Order: sequence, then C-alpha cells, then structure tokens
Amino acid sequence: MSGTIGNKIKMSIFGQSHANAIGVVIDGLEAGLKIDEEQLQNFLDRRSPGKDEFSTIRKEPDKVEFLSGLVNGKTCGAPICAIIKNTNVKKNDYKNFENIPRPGHADFTSFIKFGESMDKSGGAQFSGRMTAPMCIAGGIAMQQLKILGIDIIARIDEIAGVKGASMFNKITEAKKEGDSVGGVIKCEITGMPKGIGDALFGGIEGRISQSIFGIPAVKGIEFGSGFEGSQKRGSCNNDDFIAVDDEIKTVTNNHGGILGGISSGMPIVFRVAFKPTPSISRLQRSVNLKTNECVDIEINGRHDPCIVPRAVPVVEAMAAFAIYDMICE
Ligand SMILES: Cc1cc2nc3c(=O)[nH]c(=O)nc-3n(C[C@H](O)[C@H](O)[C@H](O)COP(=O)(O)O)c2cc1C
Repeated sequence: MSGTIGNKIKMSIFGQSHANAIGVVIDGLEAGLKIDEEQLQNFLDRRSPGKDEFSTIRKEPDKVEFLSGLVNGKTCGAPICAIIKNTNVKKNDYKNFENIPRPGHADFTSFIKFGESMDKSGGAQFSGRMTAPMCIAGGIAMQQLKILGIDIIARIDEIAGVKGASMFNKITEAKKEGDSVGGVIKCEITGMPKGIGDALFGGIEGRISQSIFGIPAVKGIEFGSGFEGSQKRGSCNNDDFIAVDDEIKTVTNNHGGILGGISSGMPIVFRVAFKPTPSISRLQRSVNLKTNECVDIEINGRHDPCIVPRAVPVVEAMAAFAIYDMICE
C-alpha cells in the first residue's frame, strides 16, 4: 500500500489535501511510551505553512488530534490514530486547470492511473500537505530516540546551488519572477549506537532512502561523501580508524556513519535534493486531457516559491521513523 511504511512499526498515512482531514495510523508501538503532545505540536508547527515570506499563504494551524492509542499521555498498545483537520480548503483555486495537468506536478500521472476518479483538487494525496502526518509519526519516533540519546538535526544546506545567507535571496528573486527554486537539506544523526542495520537490502541507506523518497519533491539522496566521494581516490575517501579511550572511531567521516549498511557509531550524515516547487505563476505549456488541445497555463493558487524551508522537519521526521523502526526490530 502506497501510504504505509515500516517493518516493526508501521506508519499509514491517509487523507488528501482538500479532504476533511489528513492523518496517520501508527501500529506496533510498545505500550507505556510517554508522548509529549506539546513538544509534538511544536515540531509540527515548524512545518506549518504561512509562517514566513517563503511559504504558501495557505495558513492552517495543523492542530494534531489523537483519536486513539494514547491514555494519559502514554501509548496503551492499541494503534495510534491522529488526524489534522483541513480547515483552509479553497477548491476553486484548482477549478481552472481541472483537466489541465500542472507541469512538474503529479496531475498527469494521477490521471493516467486513476482516470476521472482522481481527486483533482490541491494535489490530493500527492500534496506536500501529506508531510504533516509524516511529522506526527516521525515526531513521536524522535521523542523516543531522544530518550535513547539519539538526536536528529536537519538544516538547509543549499538553495538553487547557493550556500550561506545569500541563498535566501534566491527564493525572494524567484518569487518576484513568479518562479520557484529547489535546494538541498543536510541531516545528521548523532548518538547512534554501533551495529544497527544489515547487509544488502537491510542496510541503513536503503531504509532511510525509502522513507525520504516518500516526501514529495525529493529527487536525490547521498550519504557521507556521496557523489563527491566518487571523484576521490580510496586513500582520500577511506576513514582511518583510531582508538580513543578504548572506543574505536574514525578520524574522518566520509562514510557518513554507515559501513556495509550497518552503523559505525560515527554520526550518520546524508543530504537530500528537493526539486523546485512545480506550481509557478509563470506561463507554461500543457494539454487539456479531455480535448488533447495544447493550452497555456498560469497557476495563481497558494504555493511555496521554495519547498526546502518547510521540508526540514519532514526530513528529520522520516529519518527518525526509519531509524526507530530499525532499532525496535
Ligand atoms: C512541504 C512541501 C510543500 C509542498 N508544496 C507545494 C506547493 O505549494 N506547490 C506545488 O506545486 N508542489 C508542492 N510540493 C511538491 C509536490 O507535492 C510534488 O512535487 C508533486 O506531488 C509531484 O511529486 P514529485 O515531485 O515527488 O514527483 C510540496 C512538497 C513538500 C514536501
């Protein structure tokens, strides 16, 4: 099922951007885990739209409501079901291009797969809004990892190929021109115990990648020295081992904390590439799917000129979920 991920702990995302609600069912969590709802809400607020000049003007509180699975702030062994009501739905924004697929979005492939039955408003189950329930499950996983001494921190590394403070100018420039930009988020997992993961298909890279590729607009991921490492010699890319106070570490961390799919105890480091937001107000070419007529399209709905700032907690959430699931296994 497309909305379900996890081995020992299963996260199932449901809803559409313009349905009554979006939400998540989390199955397999041990009973008695304390969940700090206020902290979880604060985590979700980092992803919420409408907070800054870079994000969509779709303002929604994204208030999490637990329907089941929690008793007095602790898991009770029953599956958790949590929802977020969609309170700011403007279906009319999408009326003009109901049969005209937005370039770069999932409208065309959704139509090919689901035909006239597809939900035509707001990106439906392909919308960036589906990352809110990811943050519920991932936020809960993060709280449990923190207790185990594992911290996950992501940050913006690049926007439109630029690093440093001036990268935000790239978003402002694109917005002014009715355009959008992409970027890269870097994530670090510290406090990771040695020996988690497995060879081949059970490797940490594969498990994190599967989680991360569930985030809409993700187009690439690299671990440790990644693509740059492929240009180096082994003598530069290998990380020498040293013993410090009886603990074996590596001098450098080109391996990004993973060797043979298994954690080495060094920080797990990976970078995620996001494409530019598909919906832009500049004129683009498309085709009316009913008449096959070529048409011009201008998208004047509510859209982020850059997805990257809002995606930072989502990367943390999906990484946390993958790691917590592996640890619970
Ligand atoms: C947090 C977040 C917000 C997003 N907001 C928008 C948006 O406002 N407009 C848009 O066209 N796409 C947005 N997207 C991206 C689309 O959902 C995504 O590009 C589309 O579903 C096609 O999937 P793909 O890019 O993975 O192929 C957002 C993605 C994320 C993660």
